[in-house]
Amino acid sequence: MQITPLNLPAEAEQLSQWLLSEPWPFHGQPQASETQLLEKIAQGYFFSSNHQSFWLATDQDAQAGFVRIFDLDDIADDGYPMFDLRIRQVWRGQGLGRQALQWLTRYVFETWPALDRMAGTTRLDNHAMRRVFRLCGYVKEGHYRQDWPTADGLCLDTVHYAILRQDWLTGQITPVNWLDE
Ligand SMILES: CC(C)(COP(=O)(O)OP(=O)(O)OC[C@H]1O[C@@H](n2cnc3c(N)ncnc32)[C@H](O)[C@@H]1OP(=O)(O)O)[C@@H](O)C(=O)NCCC(=O)NCCS
Repeated sequence: MQITPLNLPAEAEQLSQWLLSEPWPFHGQPQASETQLLEKIAQGYFFSSNHQSFWLATDQDAQAGFVRIFDLDDIADDGYPMFDLRIRQVWRGQGLGRQALQWLTRYVFETWPALDRMAGTTRLDNHAMRRVFRLCGYVKEGHYRQDWPTADGLCLDTVHYAILRQDWLTGQITPVNWLDE
């Protein structure tokens, strides 16, 4: 997999068309219009001091996937970044999600050497993403009940996964102590 930084504003139109080219039910505003997307792009949602974005390429498709890192400004306040990851339908189930998260984890820990952790969330029923988290050494740390409103009026649970730098370095898993009460 090759990784290329998103080039804005040159690729604004291309990015909005790419996002509109298929549904993303596990992302906020799954039905966003082109105008809304272009507005978000202009506001720095994909690239700013707080955000970075990258295309994920295969030999056959220069835009097979896309990843956005956010909450980078929080690092200065002892916070940590989060991310969202998208692989086009045609390329799913072939290991790209796993490779992308492995790359991303390395990129973040190497770029911000004082950072101790990074994290991501997804919806309870996103089994593919949950599997990718576990395969990449992320541990479930949070479970938010009825937290994620869906287009059909339901409210599903959100799950939160994180990886510690020390686990990334050692390949070990530090378990959560759930029995502390
Ligand atoms: C979630 C997503 C990023 C995973 O990427 P992917 O390239 O399909 O995942 P991989 O091919 O690397 O698969 C990793 C593992 O997940 C498993 N997996 C894939 N799809 C699955 C599914 N629907 N249910 C359960 N497991 C699944 C694979 O079998 C593999 O596990 P294995 O190695 O033990 O067999 C991708 O499906 C996607 O972009 N989905 C839509 C957007 C999205 O949901 N993004 C996450 C929002 S936070």
